[in-house]
Amino acid sequence: MCGIIGYIGQKDAREELLSGLYALEYRGYDSSGIALVAQGGLVTVRKKKGRISELEALLKSDTSVKRSGIGIGHTRWATHGAPNDANSHPHRGNVGLVTVVHNGIIENYVELRAECIARGEEFSSETDTEVLAHLIEFEFEKDRKDPLGALQRAIAKAQGSWGLCVLFEGYPQTIFAAKKDSPLLIGFGKGENYVASDITAFLSSTREYLPLCDGDCAVVSAENVEIYDAKGTLQNREHTIALWDKDSAQKGAYDCFMNKEIHEQPETVNKLLKGRTKDSLPDFSADGFDVSRLAKAETIHIVACGSAMHSALYGKHIIEELARIPVKVEVASEFRYENPIMKENDFAFVISQSGETADTLAALRLIKQRGIPNAAIVNVAASTIAREADGVLLIKAGPEIAVATTKAYTSQSLILALLAVAVAYKKGTISDKYAREFTHNITTFSDSISEMLESTKKLENIAKRLENQHSAFFIGRGRDYATIFEASLKLKEITYIHSEAYAAGELKHGTISLVTDDVNVIAFATDKDLFDKTLSNIKEVKARRGYVFLITGKDGEYLSHSCDETFVLPEVDDHLAPLLAVICCQYIAYLTSKGMGLDVDKPRNLAKSVTVE
Ligand code: F6R
Repeated sequence: MCGIIGYIGQKDAREELLSGLYALEYRGYDSSGIALVAQGGLVTVRKKKGRISELEALLKSDTSVKRSGIGIGHTRWATHGAPNDANSHPHRGNVGLVTVVHNGIIENYVELRAECIARGEEFSSETDTEVLAHLIEFEFEKDRKDPLGALQRAIAKAQGSWGLCVLFEGYPQTIFAAKKDSPLLIGFGKGENYVASDITAFLSSTREYLPLCDGDCAVVSAENVEIYDAKGTLQNREHTIALWDKDSAQKGAYDCFMNKEIHEQPETVNKLLKGRTKDSLPDFSADGFDVSRLAKAETIHIVACGSAMHSALYGKHIIEELARIPVKVEVASEFRYENPIMKENDFAFVISQSGETADTLAALRLIKQRGIPNAAIVNVAASTIAREADGVLLIKAGPEIAVATTKAYTSQSLILALLAVAVAYKKGTISDKYAREFTHNITTFSDSISEMLESTKKLENIAKRLENQHSAFFIGRGRDYATIFEASLKLKEITYIHSEAYAAGELKHGTISLVTDDVNVIAFATDKDLFDKTLSNIKEVKARRGYVFLITGKDGEYLSHSCDETFVLPEVDDHLAPLLAVICCQYIAYLTSKGMGLDVDKPRNLAKSVTVE
């Protein structure tokens, strides 16, 4: 949801900003822009609608933009105002003394803008951000001696969320920054410093960083960084060293990040499990996570958005089946406004790859406010959700750059499977033998993923077929019903093919009226106990001349006689087979999108990190 970067040091700031913006492009790609401080302190702004490559081309052709060692940049996911040049960041104050890049939303911008207009100020965009530039400048103009004070006074009038970088005329050696409810980190180099929405923006230069807290302002020069908290008190906080290395945020030999991330899954699954099993049983002691609290829960709530919520659906199925504890899965954007019923002996998980999703964060705050014990399942260790939750279970999947999640979904689901075994074992709802067997099977899941990824050639036909189609249905029962939502989302979000997930037995209650000649139905059948029931539903589709692509295990091969095409999964534990089927569909979606000539990693209208409600 917009990415911002600031650089100050000896290098060419234009290059640093562009490379940071490319790393942040997954956060929004409607437009981008940079501001550089030229010699003499004048600020030059260049911005352009479209991808960062458009901005790069503009900068290459514009010889009037001089080398500079300080600048700020922005990549936009449009909220207020169309994605055009005028609405692109950076934005400037009324007389151009202040230049701003902003991630977040200024909720009271209409009234603040009216105040500025009443003072005679003129606006050149429809954005909420421009009002911040005006407000800061208005405060700064009072004496031009206290930029930090001007920033603090201006944001005190704003409501909403911000990650902000600000340049002030007359202060050519300093970037000012502020944060509230949008992520912002300082990256510390040698004789150079960065400010960015995400660590990946400066990972190629430094792994040493510090996440700003809500209410913070920072004064950043090449040699020094001062951080002031919401009360204006100078802070002395410890720096952190990133676990990720610079190569983990590069595509390497792959054609796109999604393909790379799909293929990383055997490795990311192993990273997730490392140190989390002992004597063939789950072990969360290194996480400081007490499973007995979970085992005592009357109800477990899992709150998340999108694919993270889909992993919760899988978690619900497996926790309820093994541990016999009711699990309520809730969409974060609904949860916070429905006055959720939670009791003191319940337990709540929030799940978020980025750890910054605004709705999930708001849900976590509500959970905490109600005094419910909680833990976050996150990928980004320095994220706000990770910092605010009572407990944290890191999935350790490394940077996920493609907008459509793949490896994070698998790891989120798998950690829930491991928790299910741990809780069920604690409660005695599964035998010692079964607990050890299943834990062992989880630890060998990465081999099954590798084996599956070796036979992806067999998925090319269905992907080719889907390229020319308008719609697809995913059907499944039981465990498969818990996972088809994710498979369906993958296809629709990166190919724009309309796709829906249905309980196989539910199709005939209305939706089957849409199944006519050659309509695509992708059937998951990994749940042996339900093979024959799923077969009946497949036959219902075939009777209407639909095209059925079946994903099943060896035992289910006999179902293939009733289908048009079948993909047989490698041998794997029954509970893990549906996750393997999702990975198949991740790959089908990738192939289809690529075959259609689309941008696999950056589907239209989407952004990776959704920091607005
Ligand atoms: C879809 C996808 C999204 C995210 C959702 C939550 O491929 O990635 O649906 O799962 O926006 O994001 P996080 O997990 O960062 O909270």
